[in-house]
Amino acid sequence: MISEFPHLIDLNDYPVSWWNGLLDLGEKILQNPALYANSCKGKLMGTLFYEPSTRTQMSFQTAMLRLGGTIIGFDNPSTSSVAKGENLKDTTKIVSGYADVIVIRHPTAGAAKAAALTADCPVINAGDGGHLHPTQTLTDLLTLKVEKKRLSGLTIGVCGDLYNGRTVHSLCKALSCYPNNHFIMISTKELRMPSYIKDAISAGGGTYEETESLEAVMDKLDVLYMTRIQKERFASEEEYFAQKDTYILTPKKMQLANPDMIVMHPLPRVDEITVPVDDDPRALYFKQAKYGMYIRMALILTLLQSTRKTELLKGKEHMGIVCDNEKCITHAEPYLPKSFTGRDTLLVCEYCDHRLLLRH
Ligand code: NCD
Repeated sequence: MISEFPHLIDLNDYPVSWWNGLLDLGEKILQNPALYANSCKGKLMGTLFYEPSTRTQMSFQTAMLRLGGTIIGFDNPSTSSVAKGENLKDTTKIVSGYADVIVIRHPTAGAAKAAALTADCPVINAGDGGHLHPTQTLTDLLTLKVEKKRLSGLTIGVCGDLYNGRTVHSLCKALSCYPNNHFIMISTKELRMPSYIKDAISAGGGTYEETESLEAVMDKLDVLYMTRIQKERFASEEEYFAQKDTYILTPKKMQLANPDMIVMHPLPRVDEITVPVDDDPRALYFKQAKYGMYIRMALILTLLQSTRKTELLKGKEHMGIVCDNEKCITHAEPYLPKSFTGRDTLLVCEYCDHRLLLRH
C-alpha cells in the first residue's frame, strides 16, 4: 500500500542521503534559528500522545512554534474520544483533516504505521511501544555529528534495557548504515537486544558484541548510550525489580573511560546515571535533548515541503495468519490488514517486525 504522503515511521524507509540532508539542515537551523522563524507560518501540527512524554512532545511543539506554525493535540487520551472507545483509525482520520502533520506516540508496536495507513497528512512516529523511535535517533545523530564530528568509525556502548528500549533499536539500526561502526551491547541476559535488530545491524554492515559488564568495556568506548529500564513494558513488578539498578553509571566508573568519550541518554533518567556524573564535561544528555528540538524543526520543515510518497505495506496477507506478538497493533486494532513480508516458513509482520516461523 502506497500512501500519498511523506511519513516518517522507520528511518530505514529513507536512504542515508536523506538523513544526511536532514542533519545538515538541523545544523544550519541550530546555527541560526531566527532565519527559520516563519518557515511554517499557517501550518498546523497535531500531537497525539497516547503515552507519557516530556521531551519528545515539547520539543516537537516548540519546534513547530519556532517555525511559525501552530499546534493542537492531546497528551492524555482519557480526555479525548479515545476514552469513549474510538479506534486509532478514526482519531487519525479526523485529526489529519484538521492538521498538516501528525506526530503520534503510542504504547503499541506498529501504531504509527497503522495511523499512517489512514491519515490524510504526513505522520511522524514519536515512539511506538518498545519498537522504534526514529526522531530520537535523528536527535542522537545530530548530537554525534556536532559533538564527535563524525557518524562513522565509532565504538558505541549501548547499556541497560536493550530488549524494550526503542531508542537503542532505532539508533543501532541507523548507525550500522554508516561505515565501520561497532556496537558493544551491555545488558543482562534477559534484556538483550532483539535478534531482528542484531540482524539489521549485520545487514547494514555494522558489527557487535554482547557483554554483561559495563566496567570491562568502558575504556573501549567513543560513546556510552545509557538507557532506563522500561518499567512499563514488564509483565510484572518482580521482573522489573530483578533488573532495576543493574547498571549505574557513577563518577568512579567514568574514570575508566577515555577523556573524549561522551555519555548520551534519551532521558528520562531514573537512577542509571548518578547526579554527580552531570558535572562531568563528557555528560552530554541535556545538550542532546536540546539538539532534539533543532532536528525536529528540520524534520517538520522537510516533510511539509516534500511530495514524496511512502510505501507502507509491501507484503501481503496470508489466510488466517495473525502476528503472534501480543504487543503488536494488529491485536488492538483488529480491522488492520495483517500484512507480512517474507515467504515460505518465515514471515515478518509489517507493523512490529516480529518474525513468525510457520510449520507446514
Ligand atoms: C525515551 C522513550 O520515550 O522511548 N524517551 C524519549 O523519547 N526521550 C526513552 C525512555 O522513555 O526511556
